[in-house]
Amino acid sequence: MSDNRDIPSKVIKNDPWFGSYADRAEAMRASEIRALFAVASRPEVVSLAGGMPYLDRMPFDELAPLLAKMLKDKGDVAWQYGSAQGDPHLREDVLQIMELENITDAQPDDVVIVNGSQSGLDLITRIMCNPGDSILAEAPNYVGALGVFQSFQVQVVNVLLDENGLIPEAFEQAIIEQRALGHPVKFLYTVPNFHNPAGATMSIERRPKVLEIARKYHVLIVEDNPYGLLSFEGKTYPALRSMDSENVVYLSSFSKIIAPGMRVAWMVAPPGIRHKLVLANESAILCPSNMSQMTITTYLDNFDWKAQINDYRGMYKERCDTMDAALKKYLPYCSWHKPKGGFYIWLKIPEGLDSRAMLPRAITAKVAYVAGTAFYDNGEGTDHMRLSFCYPTPTRITEGIRRLSTVIDADRETAELFGTTGKPDPDPRDVEYPGPAAH
Ligand SMILES: Cc1ncc(COP(=O)(O)O)c(C=O)c1O
Repeated sequence: MSDNRDIPSKVIKNDPWFGSYADRAEAMRASEIRALFAVASRPEVVSLAGGMPYLDRMPFDELAPLLAKMLKDKGDVAWQYGSAQGDPHLREDVLQIMELENITDAQPDDVVIVNGSQSGLDLITRIMCNPGDSILAEAPNYVGALGVFQSFQVQVVNVLLDENGLIPEAFEQAIIEQRALGHPVKFLYTVPNFHNPAGATMSIERRPKVLEIARKYHVLIVEDNPYGLLSFEGKTYPALRSMDSENVVYLSSFSKIIAPGMRVAWMVAPPGIRHKLVLANESAILCPSNMSQMTITTYLDNFDWKAQINDYRGMYKERCDTMDAALKKYLPYCSWHKPKGGFYIWLKIPEGLDSRAMLPRAITAKVAYVAGTAFYDNGEGTDHMRLSFCYPTPTRITEGIRRLSTVIDADRETAELFGTTGKPDPDPRDVEYPGPAAH
């Protein structure tokens, strides 16, 4: 559960509006990843921090003339307002993508296009949750979702996960406990495939069990699935939504399987929720950008996107293998589960070390990661760090892990000598840096 919603936001010096902000603005915290971005993106630093896809293999040269033609032929549509539910052509196209994860019964009318899944998470929380309501989520939790939940003053109840994903018994127990406390549980938020940051994937056996519990207690499931097609073995897992169309709101995105710059993602929801989502989308942004959606459909219609995704899979697999090998070589005393897909390794560091306190020393050694505390809202996670292998080349990954090992080795020696790693460094969330964040 959150313990930091009472901490006031950093007070900007002489802010004349201090004291005027809504409670929900007070609950907002800068993400640790955002705070890191400016430093971590310096070229001399090997960044194992951000979740940015590697885009060099996108066919930009071939795409450019097609986009120019699209603008010439359909500029009046591309530059115009559109539908709050999203472009019908794109809503039709995403059905083919979802078929790869066994979702075969969805219709274009079930789909809502959103400004990235991040916006979808905002919309579903907006329409389902009042301040003080509980939602259940795997712990550690996707940092961007935590930010949304905090901003709506929702209590996040942590549910255990292991290398096979969310533990069904822990899910049921959490519902029972929340009910006993009189807290309404509005939904379970889960990232079943190649979890960010844990790297875990919910096993095939657990999926029907989780759905059964959700139905038993009438708890909605929000299935966030941006990485599902990026499996290293080429094996995709059936989406929870493919097994239950009434109790699951499904979210997926073009950000990781194609590119994030267009900010195009989609949701599939049962009719009542879908109707509210469209209204909420309209009230937040009027409509998703036609230009972005038409850029995506131009790409999907003219390129072999399945081959592109396969190419990405091979590339990310090689990077994951490289990171795994480097960890075995340089940090054999740490522990981790090698993921079967996605972008992240969740590394457990030796007892007594603090990944957040260590971060400034890592940056000085020219390597960046995200401290485990970013993925909890209760201060847990000091014994873990998230390492992303998606963006740096294999050579940089190996060098990054080598640099990281010098920092962890040194902290380990200090801890062994003195039984402590010393005074913690300042909370990086209290430092404000400009620049975009890649979650
Ligand atoms: C689990 C998860 N959900 C949602 C998002 C946000 O994706 P989008 O770019 O579609 O907003 C991310 C981005 O890293 C993510 O890892």
